[in-house]
Amino acid sequence: MIGRRALIGLAAGLAMTTSFTAPAISQETFKVGLILPMTGPFASTGRQVEAGARAYMAAHGDTAAGKTVELIVRDDAGTADQTRRLAQELVVNEEVDALAGFGLTPLALAAGSIATQAKVPAVVMAAATSVITEESEYFVRTSGTLPQSAVPVATWAGENDIQSVVTLVSDYGPGIDAETWFTKEFTDNGGEILEAVRVPLQNPDFAPFLQRVRDAEPDAVFVFLPSGAGSLFMRQFANRGLGEAGIRLIATGDVTDDDILNEMGDPALGAITGHFYSAAHDSPENEAFVSAFKEANDGMRPNFMAIGGYDGMQALYAALEKTEGDTSGDALMEALKGLSWTSPRGPVSIDPETRDIVQNIYMREVKSVDGELYNVEFETYEAVKDPVKAQAAD
Ligand code: PHB
Repeated sequence: MIGRRALIGLAAGLAMTTSFTAPAISQETFKVGLILPMTGPFASTGRQVEAGARAYMAAHGDTAAGKTVELIVRDDAGTADQTRRLAQELVVNEEVDALAGFGLTPLALAAGSIATQAKVPAVVMAAATSVITEESEYFVRTSGTLPQSAVPVATWAGENDIQSVVTLVSDYGPGIDAETWFTKEFTDNGGEILEAVRVPLQNPDFAPFLQRVRDAEPDAVFVFLPSGAGSLFMRQFANRGLGEAGIRLIATGDVTDDDILNEMGDPALGAITGHFYSAAHDSPENEAFVSAFKEANDGMRPNFMAIGGYDGMQALYAALEKTEGDTSGDALMEALKGLSWTSPRGPVSIDPETRDIVQNIYMREVKSVDGELYNVEFETYEAVKDPVKAQAAD
């Protein structure tokens, strides 16, 4: 007969042996479940974010705190139900240590409760409606928020002879955020909003909306459209003769997305945007990033989505080093809060209160440089926080 004590001892011994001798895949591998729209209308976002994440790993190796970092990529095709299902599958079956990606606001929101229940960090690398990080304490963001970019554009417009504006935004979370916060800052500084136009997110035909803008005769139109939608907009902006009518184009940098800027051609020249990343950002870190990224991706130029992926991996690596390899979600979240580093976009940090990224917002003008179009930075608003939460904290 084996006594109870002996049994407990045996069990404990076995457990110890197991933990020493098991293949220990989950201990030695740090798995990141990257959920992105790899197909469908927002596939360019998925392609850019994944390439950005891989560019970080190519430049810094695939180990952090002695663990091999593994990316498991899943395609949600831009559908929130899929994002949620995939997040669950990655947590339960793959036992990922972190979730990441999230190409659009509704997709990020759909995964929030999974991150909370599983206590797994979820790195928002793309989606940019302010409220996302309030949906789960396990969200941390390396993209940015629309108010973060829209407020500096409004400040700049007020200081540069723009007195009347029509806003034109995609009719969902980030568009409403951009419209609300541009309007607040612009009118606080004495500007006038003549009309607020909202266009459908899917398959928009901008022509009738641009006609409304033209008829209102503003000094400028302020625009937010999600990454990828800018080329059609730019074509229709030119066809409707808005530029010739003297209406200036000001926007968040989502519209003059580096991925498709060259396709836009001359109509894009002179567009003024505010954003956190330009492929033309002048720094040694960015020069190295852009050339490695192009080399690894058949010459594709990185856009702001790519830098969200790159810095998302940077944040996870740094957090893992800080916990000395402790992969528990709570330890990683504590480690993520307050991190700071020099990104190819410039200096950044993770606000420990909000888990949002604090970053420079650059004002840029589309110019032709060596035969290609670039967002050329000309003014910097330093260390900008998400203004929505900054105001709520006041
Ligand atoms: C979003 O859905 O949050 C989103 C998508 C594309 C952007 C910005 C925000 O360019």
